[in-house]
Amino acid sequence: MAVPGSADHITGGAAGRAGRPGVRDQGPAASRMAGRRALVSGGASGIGLATVRRLRAEGAQVVAIDRRPPAPELARETAAPFLVADVTRAHDVADAVTQASTLLGGPPDVLLNAAGIYRMRPLLELTPAEWDETLAINLRGSFLVGQAVAAALIDASLPGAIVNIASTAALVADAAEPTAHYNASKAGVIALTRQMAVEWAPHGIRVNAVCPGVIDTPMLRLMDDPVAGQAYLDSCVPLRRLGTAAEVAAVIVFLASDDAAYLTAVAVPVDGGSTAI
Ligand code: NAI
Repeated sequence: MAVPGSADHITGGAAGRAGRPGVRDQGPAASRMAGRRALVSGGASGIGLATVRRLRAEGAQVVAIDRRPPAPELARETAAPFLVADVTRAHDVADAVTQASTLLGGPPDVLLNAAGIYRMRPLLELTPAEWDETLAINLRGSFLVGQAVAAALIDASLPGAIVNIASTAALVADAAEPTAHYNASKAGVIALTRQMAVEWAPHGIRVNAVCPGVIDTPMLRLMDDPVAGQAYLDSCVPLRRLGTAAEVAAVIVFLASDDAAYLTAVAVPVDGGSTAI
């Protein structure tokens, strides 16, 4: 089901920041992604939604897929068509990539795999069904969408760039947030990223990952207890604050852009320094 936005209005641009002495303009370059055709899974919320906004602001055409449509005001604001699809279902994914290719006028040459879930459960209580659900969405979903997009690009002899979202949870354990299934799924995403990168490099397809730390989106659980959450930020995050979805999106779009033309098979922490200590 396509849920097209109705307004062609882009927010988050550099207007108003440029030209102030001593202040770097960190706004998006209006044309870096011009001519690029982007597909974003998990595009209805959080980091996926922020990346839809950033890609649009940098000139790309964007189609988002998610298992639920975005709120109507978000659909209007991003002006990006949304396709409802479950990334764990191969048929949904194949249909969504075909529809996206039609809407974009060619196969997506930028893919962000952002669809994901985060569930806490101590290992001794974790059920096989909970394990399977998390692995299916976070890992199988990235495989299915990545495979469908790469196949379409290779069929058309076109280059492209894929960014997968892993997590710092793939790199470090945390007894306070028991998430073995999540951590394993995200470690799998890093391994999947490297393998996609080396198998598809001969076709001009780069594949990288980001490893976000604690990012302020609806998924975040750290601040459910604000006192403990702030204590964690003060002691475990050198920059001493949460990251924003827009800050992760900026790195994702860099990795997808030609500015990262010689980067492939890397997993970049976007974590305020937390994995360094
Ligand atoms: P979010 O909950 O705001 O967005 C996730 C989106 O994925 C939602 O719109 C949801 O509907 C969609 N989704 C879930 N299952 C799906 C399925 N089967 N098919 C299609 N869409 C599906 O969360 P957030 O924070 O934006 O997460 C984006 C990615 O970033 C996830 O992969 C997450 O694991 C990862 N991440 C987030 C961190 C954080 O602190 N927020 C930290 C590290 C990684």
